[in-house]
Amino acid sequence: MTQTPASPVPGDNSTAPWWTTAVFYQVYPRSFADSDGDGIGDLGGVREKMGYLELLGVDALWICPVMRSPQADGGYDVSDPRDIDPLFGGLAAMDELIAEAHDREIKVTMDLVPNHTSNEHPWFTAALAAAPGSPERSRYIFRDGRGEDGSQPPNNWPSIFGGPAWTRVTEADGEPGQWYLHIFAAEQPDLDWTNPEVADDFEKTLRFWLDRGVDGFRLDVAHGMAKPDGLPDMAEVSTKLLVNDDDDPRFNNPGVHAIHRRFRAVLDDYPHAVSIGEVWVEDNIRFGEYVRPDELHLAFNFRLAETPFTVEGVRAAITHSLDAVEAVGAPPTWTLSNHDVEREVTRYGGGKTGVARARAMMMVELALPGAVFVYNGAELGLPNVDDLPEEVLQDPVWLRSGRTERGRDGCRVPIPWEGATPPFGFTDGARSWLPIPADWAGRTVESQLETLHSTLSLYRLAIELRGTRPEFAGDRIEWYGSPDDALAFRRPGGLICVLNASSGPIQLPPGEMLLASAPVVDEHLPANAAAWLV
Ligand code: GLC
Ligand code: MG
Repeated sequence: MTQTPASPVPGDNSTAPWWTTAVFYQVYPRSFADSDGDGIGDLGGVREKMGYLELLGVDALWICPVMRSPQADGGYDVSDPRDIDPLFGGLAAMDELIAEAHDREIKVTMDLVPNHTSNEHPWFTAALAAAPGSPERSRYIFRDGRGEDGSQPPNNWPSIFGGPAWTRVTEADGEPGQWYLHIFAAEQPDLDWTNPEVADDFEKTLRFWLDRGVDGFRLDVAHGMAKPDGLPDMAEVSTKLLVNDDDDPRFNNPGVHAIHRRFRAVLDDYPHAVSIGEVWVEDNIRFGEYVRPDELHLAFNFRLAETPFTVEGVRAAITHSLDAVEAVGAPPTWTLSNHDVEREVTRYGGGKTGVARARAMMMVELALPGAVFVYNGAELGLPNVDDLPEEVLQDPVWLRSGRTERGRDGCRVPIPWEGATPPFGFTDGARSWLPIPADWAGRTVESQLETLHSTLSLYRLAIELRGTRPEFAGDRIEWYGSPDDALAFRRPGGLICVLNASSGPIQLPPGEMLLASAPVVDEHLPANAAAWLV
């Protein structure tokens, strides 16, 4: 390999590892493309669509979990971490996908789940069959219940998906016995990371996939794993589901960092590979701890995905995300949505306005230094589907909340590829695992590829410019003066990004227009739009 000589341009990062500026595309495999007609997306489907991903111009894929799983939580309940589920095509399909992606110079990262396993993992089956206090139970977090007869859970922790975070088991004698901890669904028992067997096995999993050619991992619940000594009660039990806050004893315990250092030591044997943590931590200093030089390479910063379309909100999200990593010298990351949150089009108000704002925010995130994560379907401007019929809902949140919270299925509806009626080429079968709204006919990949001003065309252009224009150089931004309810920043290479979140057009600063998310008339940028100038 030839090394690019160090450049005199300050902030030039042409010698930095590939992920520092990469555009990642998140594939939710169940919903991306189905190759075998069962109505559920699979790895063969991803492989068949690799030409599309190349056209879109992304550098890398993050593929949500495809390991063996009973699918109690869309694959985040893993029963064998070193095999691919037949639902997704088995190991051969993964090998073929990696080869096809690499042929097109697209990297492949997998999603691994260190915090918990499936309740069908052989370790958990063995733990249930074994006695309290046995080595089999010590891989998970089993405790005696409170109260005279142990009929109360060991502490007051709720599950993120609703209901208690503990489930009581029946012992060999047929009597109610110990409880096990599951911060997510009951089908996802938490592992005990103080047991060295757990870390040893996870290291085996990392090496297994790295040796098969993957380019890294997204690590699920990377702020989980370590639990506080004695599992103390929560001071205040929140009844809100799927939310995160920094005082939550279930997450972000100091012991987690030793675990990340152990992972990193493995990753360092494979210098081409990246680790990206799902880190729901608000405090900038504590967030930054996860990406110190001997821990994760990258961590998701969710501030943009949580921010409404306001100038103050967006500016604060950007500033905080940059500050959080600056002290430790790690690249920032940006994402507007993923498979756990409401799609940005809906978050920004839905309809035409929602789409316009989502297009603008995409240009903001792609103008920033660091790595960007695009969730499949965002490039089509898809909204959430909030009126899925109740009987098709699959997110465990729906049942665990006593059918009061619909959960995350609304952002997981399959991709419309082509044609005029559902399932829009997603599957050759009669129906997709979640129904696709009939009015997505105008949002298919096919129709958007043919339209110059479609959201898909805008994404393609934006990604291409970001990857090829020298004006995107440098790892800092400088804020520019701008009218009320607008913001502007400049990259050291010379790119200027302007976002108009006001209700009327604003005058653009002087410069050559590279791209705009909406038509610019007489140097005026319309409301709910962004522009790039050089
Ligand atoms: C992460 C995943 C989410 C999953 C949970 C439990 O938050 O992104 O989809 O339900 O972990 O594994
Ligand atoms: Mg299938």
